[in-house]
Amino acid sequence: MTVVADHAVVAQSNGRERSSEIHIGLLGVGRVGRAVVRLAPSAAKVAGQRIRVVSGLVRDLRSGRDCPLPLTDDPGAIFASAPQVIVEALGGTEPARTLVLEALARGIAVVTANKTLLAYHGEELLAAAWAAGVPLRYEASVIAGVPFLGTLARRPFAANITSITGIVNGTTNYVLSEMRRARISYADALAEAQRCGYAEADASKDVNGFDAVEKLAVLVRQLAGVRVAAPAIETRGIGGITAADHEHAAELGGTIKPIASAAWDHPQISAFVGPSFVPAAHPLAKIEGSTNGICLRDRDGREVSFIGPGAGPDVTASTILDDVLEAALERALWHEPAPAANTAAPSTPWFVRLASRSGLLDGPEIASVCARQNVWVERTSSLDTRRGGEGRWLLTYPCRRDQIERVTTALNAATNGEAAVWRALA
Ligand SMILES: NC(=O)c1ccc[n+]([C@@H]2O[C@H](COP(=O)([O-])OP(=O)(O)OC[C@H]3O[C@@H](n4cnc5c(N)ncnc54)[C@H](OP(=O)(O)O)[C@@H]3O)[C@@H](O)[C@H]2O)c1
Repeated sequence: MTVVADHAVVAQSNGRERSSEIHIGLLGVGRVGRAVVRLAPSAAKVAGQRIRVVSGLVRDLRSGRDCPLPLTDDPGAIFASAPQVIVEALGGTEPARTLVLEALARGIAVVTANKTLLAYHGEELLAAAWAAGVPLRYEASVIAGVPFLGTLARRPFAANITSITGIVNGTTNYVLSEMRRARISYADALAEAQRCGYAEADASKDVNGFDAVEKLAVLVRQLAGVRVAAPAIETRGIGGITAADHEHAAELGGTIKPIASAAWDHPQISAFVGPSFVPAAHPLAKIEGSTNGICLRDRDGREVSFIGPGAGPDVTASTILDDVLEAALERALWHEPAPAANTAAPSTPWFVRLASRSGLLDGPEIASVCARQNVWVERTSSLDTRRGGEGRWLLTYPCRRDQIERVTTALNAATNGEAAVWRALA
């Protein structure tokens, strides 16, 4: 099927000249794509612009039967409809990468919400946009409902940022929040998230941290100006967290949150993704449910936080439409080519759970095992001792992963036990 759109209103094909109607070619008419179609007529309230989606690409034409838009399964027909802006809402890496490259080579601005595409091919795509002199915008790829990337890119403050710490995945924040609030197991909280629409039927990409690590790679590229490969970042899922871990985290003065964090001192980057102990006074400690948040710190120690909805088709589409307006109005954000980063896992405090099959060590004994690895215990939860429980939970001062791993090996050997460790924020 081929679509030839009515584009009489637009006198040019590459968006270089202004017109009062911006024509979108939409790649992908799923949850996000449909929201773009629905919200486009009411989106363009600035600069006297109107936005119209002129054609949409799907894989299977039967999937779009109820969509009020000319659909095609032929990418060539999308380009033939002469859009000024291509919105990529396919997901994944291919054919998204090939079609975005083709759009840029044709001089057509591109807007995408696809963090996977950016995490794995961002450098190539940004270089192509740079070479072609057309905008490539991706505000909706990280914390879709909070337009902070474009805002920061215009501010000198951004050049001084040295670390980002955030909750960038709503599914895992919802699951951990529900475990704590309703005192239920991980499996029950995940099932609840799936029932309420906060988790997909296959939530593995979220709960294993792969969604968050792709977003972190996009953030590092944008804010640190270096390339980091998502698989090079330490990544852990939330599946090992228990109700007891939540209780003892509270006893130790904090809470467990799904954290994505990176700090840099060029060209060195230390980064991790995983459930982490967050002190109660930290701005991220109070962000509950599916809400996302990000804290940025600059080299003078100034901290700025952004909090808001992370995903959902409507918030994502509305940020995409903002990007469409900016791209069409040629307020492009240009990106220098980025050198590769040296990636390492950071030194942080650790939240430790010790379970023993042959008797627990007391506080001084644990401290002495830790001290042999130059690891210092900050405090120990007393809940377990008061209840005569089978576990010990403690917080350490900052140390490297290899040090804490040597500590857990020594503690396991001394108690015939099984220690689990998660990072903690300072
Ligand atoms: N959902 C959210 O809340 C959200 C939030 C932020 C960012 N995003 C990002 O937005 C993007 C789209 O997400 P979504 O939830 O809208 O996905 P979705 O509901 O699965 O929709 C994907 C669309 O792309 C089409 N498509 C996929 N592969 C194709 C191919 N090879 N050829 C032609 N069409 C193809 C599908 O067509 P068929 O239906 O015919 O298969 C469908 O129309 C993803 O990158 C996602 O990460 C989503």
